[in-house]
Amino acid sequence: MSAQFGKVVVIGAGTMGHGIAQVAAMSGYSVTMVDLSDEILRRALERIRWSLSKFAEWGRIRPDDVDKIISRISTTTDLESACTDADVVIEAVFEDLKVKQDTWSRASRAARKARILGTNTSSIPIDDQASAVEGPERFLGIHFFNPPQLMQLVEIIVGSKTSDETRKLATEFARSLGKTVVTVYRDVPGFIVSRVLTRIEEVACHLVEKGKYTPVQIDSALKYRAGFPMGVFELIDYIGIDITYNVSSKVMAERDKTFRPIELLKRYVERGELGAKTGKGFYEWPGGARPTIPQDAGKDVDIWYIIIPGMNEAARLVEQGIATHEDVETAIKLGLNLPKGVLGYAAELTAEKVRSVLSELRAELGEGYDPSPYLLSIVAQPRPAAAKYEEIEVRREPPIGWIVLNRSHRLNAISPKMLDELEDAISELAADRAVKVIVITGSGERAFSVGADITTFSEILSSESKVPMAFWFSVRFNEVFRKIERTPKPVVAAIDGYALGGGLELALVCDFRIASDRSEVGQPEIRLGLIPGGGATQRLTRLIGPSKAKQVIFFGDRIKADEALRLGILDKVVPAESFEREVREFAMKLAELPPIALAAAKEAINTALNVSIDDGLRYESSLSALLFSTKDLAEGVSAFFSKRKPEFKGE
Ligand code: NAI
Repeated sequence: MSAQFGKVVVIGAGTMGHGIAQVAAMSGYSVTMVDLSDEILRRALERIRWSLSKFAEWGRIRPDDVDKIISRISTTTDLESACTDADVVIEAVFEDLKVKQDTWSRASRAARKARILGTNTSSIPIDDQASAVEGPERFLGIHFFNPPQLMQLVEIIVGSKTSDETRKLATEFARSLGKTVVTVYRDVPGFIVSRVLTRIEEVACHLVEKGKYTPVQIDSALKYRAGFPMGVFELIDYIGIDITYNVSSKVMAERDKTFRPIELLKRYVERGELGAKTGKGFYEWPGGARPTIPQDAGKDVDIWYIIIPGMNEAARLVEQGIATHEDVETAIKLGLNLPKGVLGYAAELTAEKVRSVLSELRAELGEGYDPSPYLLSIVAQPRPAAAKYEEIEVRREPPIGWIVLNRSHRLNAISPKMLDELEDAISELAADRAVKVIVITGSGERAFSVGADITTFSEILSSESKVPMAFWFSVRFNEVFRKIERTPKPVVAAIDGYALGGGLELALVCDFRIASDRSEVGQPEIRLGLIPGGGATQRLTRLIGPSKAKQVIFFGDRIKADEALRLGILDKVVPAESFEREVREFAMKLAELPPIALAAAKEAINTALNVSIDDGLRYESSLSALLFSTKDLAEGVSAFFSKRKPEFKGE
């Protein structure tokens, strides 16, 4: 919660409105929901209570938080009085220009104090609504995804009258709800996610119409060869063929002549085959079950005919200054769940390929397929050697070596591949003489890591040999974590956001844990009917003692940074604003120390808990004696006598 927006009003308490109200209340805001009748508002509150009870079941909030959160929400049918003291007004009424204009005309006049007036529209031009708004510089699009309680992405759409201050405030507000924000600097139909998706759907349907491929071939190729989580026809069925047709014809084609209504979809709609909800569309959906798509059906599909048009559309947004390259990729990763984003495929392409695919499609489908110079410029760049790591990033900034967990779209959840990469990276940085300190941190704004990727759990659960699989999965965690723990260089965990389950266990094998004050840590495994499998029962016990470890592991609560510091789980808590600077300063202090002596000290301390005091003392004596053979010791002593700062070389 940000103190500058105390009261939030959400107008329209339907599918989106109740979700947005819930998210705001969960973030600590006092919220008023407005709708046309008390009955609708009562139903909205019921839906919120149901959703909160699910959050409590999953351990994401405490059971007694449910009532606390609900108590922050009031309801009314009196729009004007609700808005008088609002700081933020968000509208999620029917998608109809007249209804929106009427709502905004009344709401903006009443909400004199509000600094953000945001519409959640998917398709109605921001400026058309702004014409009805008093103080249109306060007005903009704040586009949540369905369901807002679970979807992390928010697109912020800047209208031609929106002030820069409003854009910044709205970004801050959406971030205070825990959302990841991307900015759309001009109101283009479909914004980022829907625009890129519609282009992909348009071309996929065209290839089917033309008889080049079947839907199953395309879906199989996208799923099994291009890393899409769902095939495009499977997705259209899932969303609803009527809804997708409507987006292509109403949202896109009517406002942008480079798009066209997708005729193939129209024929399905006319036959009443709307996809999953009618049990039949491109696939059969018996009882709602997802279709099975054969793995080898797509082997002859040239996937670039489907992906390049999407990349081209995304590249145009960047080229025209509508969104940054980074924001486009974030939006596609979070909104469409594409792990590589869409421009991320550039590294696998050449300019010739882009030109040849687009020139063929341009001839058949028109100017929407004119190649974007920006796309040509990024694919034509000299190709860096194939990246060694995909799920982490290794950055050398001597004397610091960074390992960044790089799956922010999954809150840096740890997959088996990430474990393999962590193992390689730690050996690589340990062997690099220029690196004196290793810092492990998470990418994105929300998490260090939320632990083992839950999809791996589901794979294990659905396997016939679940017990051995689960055993070896846990053993693998321990193997890699042990390697990190035994690295002779100091390793710091830099936590900004959640460090939960395996994420906290990874931090526990580091020598130090520094966290930002907005971080939360915990071992929530018990809530799934499980116990930690990456060492927490052992390491947490050694670190904070058995009784506090039991408190953490038995209850599985999320523990705020200050409390975790008090318990001894964290070593240092710093303000979020200066987090990176503080981590660097801490690492630089370690980097000035004599590396061989540090390694010996780490070895001796780590051994202390496993051996008798006599053996430990002997070990300390031996290591300490060995240090007399190092040049660093000679340097340290000489610097001491000449009263200067020593320069340790690790020799
Ligand atoms: P909905 O039909 O579920 O809810 C709309 C609510 O607004 C209803 O409860 C209705 O009674 C209320 N309402 C209508 N006129 C009103 C007025 N004058 N004053 C107060 N309340 C009024 O619609 P949904 O799906 O929640 O959509 C709302 C907005 O969110 C639309 O602009 C839609 O384009 C957008 N949106 C929808 C998404 C979705 O997946 N459903 C995703 C993202 C945006």
